[in-house]
Amino acid sequence: MKQVNVSANANIALIKYWGKRDENLMLPTKSSLSLTLTALKTTTTIALNKEQHDCIEFDGHSDEQLQSPVRSFLETTRALFGINSHFSIISKNYFPTASGLASSASGFAALALGINSLCNLQLSMQEVSILARRGSGSAARSIYGGAVIWHRGDANDGSDSFAEPVLPASWWPDLRVLIAITTTAAKKVSSRAGMQQSVATSPRYQDWLIRSNNRLPAMITALRSRNIITVGSLSQADWCDMRDVMLSTTPSLNYWNEGSLNAIMGVKMLREQHGIACYVTTDAGPHVKVICLAVDAPVIMQKLQTLLGVSSVLESTIAGDPEVEIVE
Ligand code: PMV
Repeated sequence: MKQVNVSANANIALIKYWGKRDENLMLPTKSSLSLTLTALKTTTTIALNKEQHDCIEFDGHSDEQLQSPVRSFLETTRALFGINSHFSIISKNYFPTASGLASSASGFAALALGINSLCNLQLSMQEVSILARRGSGSAARSIYGGAVIWHRGDANDGSDSFAEPVLPASWWPDLRVLIAITTTAAKKVSSRAGMQQSVATSPRYQDWLIRSNNRLPAMITALRSRNIITVGSLSQADWCDMRDVMLSTTPSLNYWNEGSLNAIMGVKMLREQHGIACYVTTDAGPHVKVICLAVDAPVIMQKLQTLLGVSSVLESTIAGDPEVEIVE
C-alpha cells in the first residue's frame, strides 16, 4: 500500500506573526519572515486507513489534546478536496512539543505535503502552503527551507496568503540559532488563543503592526548582505514589541520562566559587555532562541549551559526544503 514519508523542519520567525484577520481561514494581520531550522525536525509517515476513522500517533502516544487540531485539519482537507478516505499518521518530533518550539509548524507542513502526495492532489507549492496554513499559521512557512516570507495577502478567501522562499539555506552557512531549552512542559495558553486575546485587547497591537511591517524589507536586505548586527537587532526589536503586546494583553500573557529570563539577561551581557553579536527572540513558550554566527556559538552555548533554569542547548543551522518520499 502507498505510504508517504515526509521530513519537515520548524521555523523561527525573525519578523513575527501574532494575530489573525480571519480566525477560520487563519489569515494573519501582517506578513512575517522566518528561518527554517535543522535542529527542529519532524518526520511524518502517512498512509490511507482502511477503517472509517483517522489513526494518529505522536511520538508513540495517542494524546487526545495533541490530536484534536490534527483531526479538524484532516476534516477541513477532506472537505476542501472532496477526499473520502481516512488516514493513518505517525509523527515524530525531535524536540519538545507544544511548548513554543513550533512543533505545529513542522507537523502541519509535513502533513500538507504528505496528503498532497498520497492523494495525488498535484497542488502547487503555493497551494500546499495555503493548506498547511489551515493547520497552523507558521506551518505555511515550513514548507520551505532557508529564509521564508509568509504574505499577509488581501483577499478575503486567503488565496494570496501563502509563503515564498526568500533565500536558500546555503545562502548563509555561518548563521546559527541556539535554542536554550528551559522546560519541556506544555504551554498554558496556546498561541491560537493567546494571539486572539492580544488582537482584541492589547493597546499596543496596532503600533506593533506598523513598526513590524516597516522592519520586513529592512530584514530582507540585511539577510541578503549577511549583516548579523542588523539581522539580530531587527529581530530582537520585533520580538521586544511582540513581548510588549503579549504583556499588555488582558489577561496578560507571560510565556517566560526563570530560565528564559536568565538566558535573555545572559545574552544581553555577552553582547553589551563582551561585544559578541548575539540576539534573543522567543515565541509562545519559555525557550530562548539566540541568533549569532558560528564563530561565536561555542562561547554563547557555554554561557547558556551554566544558567539556572536552562536544561539544554540545541545548536541549529538553516535547514533546506522538506523531503518527501513516496513508497509504493
Ligand atoms: O502558527 P502558530 O499558531 O504556532 O503561531 C506562531 C506564533 C509565533 O511563533 C509566536 C510567531 C511566529 O511567527 O512564528
